[in-house]
Amino acid sequence: MNMIDPFGRTISYLRVSVTDRCDFRCTYCMAEDMTFLPKKDLLSLEELDRLCTVFIEKGVKRLRLTGGEPLVRKNIMHLVRQLSRHIDSGALEELTLTTNGSQLSRFAAELADCGVKRINVSLDTLDADKFHQITRWGHLGKVMDGIDAAQAAGLKVKLNAVALKDFNDAELPEMMRWAHGRDMDLTVIETMPMGEIDADRTDQYLPLSLLRASLERQFTLTDIPFKTGGPARYVHVAETGGKLGFITPMTHNFCESCNRVRLTCTGTLYMCLGQEDAADLRAPLRASEGNELLADAIDEAIGRKPKGHDFIIDRRTSRPSVSRHMSVTGG
Ligand code: GTP
Ligand code: 5AD
Ligand code: SF4
Repeated sequence: MNMIDPFGRTISYLRVSVTDRCDFRCTYCMAEDMTFLPKKDLLSLEELDRLCTVFIEKGVKRLRLTGGEPLVRKNIMHLVRQLSRHIDSGALEELTLTTNGSQLSRFAAELADCGVKRINVSLDTLDADKFHQITRWGHLGKVMDGIDAAQAAGLKVKLNAVALKDFNDAELPEMMRWAHGRDMDLTVIETMPMGEIDADRTDQYLPLSLLRASLERQFTLTDIPFKTGGPARYVHVAETGGKLGFITPMTHNFCESCNRVRLTCTGTLYMCLGQEDAADLRAPLRASEGNELLADAIDEAIGRKPKGHDFIIDRRTSRPSVSRHMSVTGG
């Protein structure tokens, strides 16, 4: 019954990008002028629910809604509410969300009410001007209000910061102190070469070994076996008492323990974040009311999950390793 890929990895984690649209335009993630997936190709929330349910029947235990920005999808709470029945029945261990935080003040309490226990909020700087610069359109105050609302609703919040050379690297130690002071873990992420952006990724890329070395001059970091089911490798920070995670797809990938696949809002299944190969699940979803064709299409797709990604960031190869933007597959 379980989904096992050709390399013996059990697939128990589904990430669902419910929209590729976003109310920000982070410079490392999107170009300013983006072409989004055609609205007519979108699956309805009922179709997304049906797909997720089939994955849960096939052994998915953790489900994360992503985007773009998941909370800008119209009526998204309807889907969250529907999916929460799998938490109630015990079939799903975790229903979570990765969000930019801009709409959290509005949705935090309802998310908690639907059985969401923790969320990841993307935040790359605590400086309001820099925040506006990196997101192009965002307001830091709204995200801060969103984080407050999430914590007040009892949600555990983890912050994600993409480490960007000469942009936020000097600020990351302070950000970590701030996050830990508010009982939030922080993960730092190496930028991945997905989709054309307006900047040169080689200028932005910071290998996290450099950040770790610089942090170790100020803090005592101890590797810990803490795991969330995601790719971060965590350390405990003695001075703050908090946890810091390193997500290092470029310098130290984690593909051998990969447990996940990604579904887009148009019903395309990507077996690896860092590869172009994909399977269309929309056709089998719509071809019949029963789920047999869909289950077969999923099995076929899992049967060709690749061993890992081929990301490279190198000035000599100016093209991104993967042409689609992160917002299509939600990271
Ligand atoms: P938890 O560990 O469950 O808290 O979540 P997560 O870190 O897996 O998910 P999140 O959405 O917060 O993603 C954080 C960063 O990790 C994003 O930049 C993702 O693109 C990256 N990431 C997550 N999963 C993978 C993966 O399978 N491969 C690669 N290369 N990057 C990933
Ligand atoms: N490389 C690494 N992380 C990225 N994210 C978006 N684009 C990239 C990229 N090119 C991050 C977001 C968010 C998460 C889902 O992915 O900041 O935290
Ligand atoms: Fe899995 Fe691909 Fe991510 Fe590697 S890059 S961990 S194989 S999704």
